[in-house]
Amino acid sequence: MKAVLQLSILTSALACQGPSSSVARPTASMDIHSFAEPHRVRVTHVDLELDLDFEHKVAHGEVQLSLQRTDSAAPLTLDVDGLEVVSVCASNGDARSFRFGPEQPRLGRAMVIDLEAGDEEVRIRYQTTEDSEALQWLAPAQTSGGEHPFLFTQGQSIFTRTWIPMQDSPGVRVTYAARVRAPEGLTPVMSAEQLGQDDSGAWCFRLDKPIPAYLIALACGDLASRDVSSRCAIWAEPSVLDAAHQEFIDTEKMIVSAEELFGPYRWGRYDVIILPPSFPFGGMENPLMTFATPTVIAGDKSLVALIAHELAHSWSGNLVTNATWSDFWLNEGFTVYLEKRIMEQVFGRERAEMEQMLDFQGLQREVATLEPWATVLDIDLEGKHPDDGFSGVPYDKGALFLRRLEQVFGREKLDRLLQSWFDQHAFQSVTTAQFEEFLAQELLATDQELAQQVNVSMWLHEPGIPADPPVPSSTALSLVEQEVERWQADPAAALDTQGWVTQQWVHFLQSLPTTLDGDKLAALDRAFNFTQTGNSEILCVWLRLSIKHGYAGADARLESFLTTVGRRKFLTPLYGELAKTDAGLKRAREIYRVARPRYHAMSSGSIDKLLEAAGRS
Ligand code: BES
Ligand code: ZN
Repeated sequence: MKAVLQLSILTSALACQGPSSSVARPTASMDIHSFAEPHRVRVTHVDLELDLDFEHKVAHGEVQLSLQRTDSAAPLTLDVDGLEVVSVCASNGDARSFRFGPEQPRLGRAMVIDLEAGDEEVRIRYQTTEDSEALQWLAPAQTSGGEHPFLFTQGQSIFTRTWIPMQDSPGVRVTYAARVRAPEGLTPVMSAEQLGQDDSGAWCFRLDKPIPAYLIALACGDLASRDVSSRCAIWAEPSVLDAAHQEFIDTEKMIVSAEELFGPYRWGRYDVIILPPSFPFGGMENPLMTFATPTVIAGDKSLVALIAHELAHSWSGNLVTNATWSDFWLNEGFTVYLEKRIMEQVFGRERAEMEQMLDFQGLQREVATLEPWATVLDIDLEGKHPDDGFSGVPYDKGALFLRRLEQVFGREKLDRLLQSWFDQHAFQSVTTAQFEEFLAQELLATDQELAQQVNVSMWLHEPGIPADPPVPSSTALSLVEQEVERWQADPAAALDTQGWVTQQWVHFLQSLPTTLDGDKLAALDRAFNFTQTGNSEILCVWLRLSIKHGYAGADARLESFLTTVGRRKFLTPLYGELAKTDAGLKRAREIYRVARPRYHAMSSGSIDKLLEAAGRS
């Protein structure tokens, strides 16, 4: 249970009023994961002052919210979770009364502020707590340099409410400005334009384009940057910068290519920051500043599709945003489709085909393990946390749907459709129903005969993968399957693996027969040195196979991987595989005891659940 304290003692000293009695959850709004009632009072601009105290792992905040009041009698309702609110006042400093709704599991609670006539702004003083799940405060030992602490935030899906009291719904867009105070030697960056330090030493930021709360982001540490082009730089700890800069040197080409395909890049700069390895995702599309895991630095650019993906969100997701978390596929499905198009343009068809094929096979495998409700694009999340619906479905089934439209109507028409979708909905939040209507008018109505070949309703509202998906094919991956076949008779060293790229190695490992044992894996390891690979994607598949088939040669590597890398996509399959046997579960728990404090709450939350469920079965 969360221990959220209210500092009512402090409030009197500040002439701002402390919390009074509690209120019930407001009537259902469009977004079931937010208490806010933006149709009555809407936050339009956020002015944030934040003081970062690394010693106590607390951020002290003062936020001024600008309001649009449609219903002049209505209070302002915000989302908060794990925050200590100190005081609330109007812009002239007069106190305003406020109260909290009951705590809802994993949603936090409503914070209701009574407004007076003429209030166009309110100011809230608050501080974060150890329950502020968006934040991860890293000890110096968890960084590459090892000398300075590090902090980063992860807002998506509904975690911004744990570090800023806000209307935390993707349907509510705000512009923002921030002033951040950080200890000497640490540099903060945000998902905004960087204005440098003011006279008092605070770092200033501004974003004048309206974005949803989940895209407000902050990272702070010992950071340096190097330009890739006049509008693009790579940020990282100094010791990581060289490798990161080399790896992502093609980012400008990706931006140019994305602009050709989908219309102008509307955000000004596009920077990428490489975070420490505990970052729970591969990447996060924070506007102007993609956050990325260092596990995509493979040394050969083989995992840079992640940058194409996060960049593509500058159109699908950040410019045109899912209005609720049930519309998440509008963000991710579109983005995967765009990502593949960018990859094809910059790195060629063969690369894009391999990546499509791996995604498709991954989707098929995953759908077979999911309950039907979780395989629907227009997903029903009633009674669930947005992240309960998280899987490859919104990503790869979503992208497959767009590829089906491309297959039937042709690329030219689909490209025109996408461009006008982005143009006509720029800086808006949109629902699946809106897309359906747009699609019907702009594409389906142009050719009734072709329209009949796509069962839109089935794709969007039914579970599973429709019977007629555009099945990808890849010659490069077919060659791999031939070598897997050959391995039944020939030794590993005799296989023709010359020139194989990452995607081929991943496919090789995923195509091996299920009748392996420890000796066979040892032979593969001798031939190809998988345990020592520096490629995180290959390593993850390899480690999983090693657990599954009892190959002890990878044990030490598994342990060091799980205790340094916090990327959820890697942790879930590895802990999941361990948890399948009693001995493995015991080992998982031992490793997790050490590793858990090093993970971000989004990863430890998932692994807590996974191990708990395994313990019960
Ligand atoms: N926006 C997502 C990350 C995310 C999704 C965070 C849901 C929280 C909740 C991001 O764009 C993403 O999809 N990242 C992927 C990489 C991509 C190449 C598929 C990841 O992190 O693995
Ligand atoms: Zn994404």
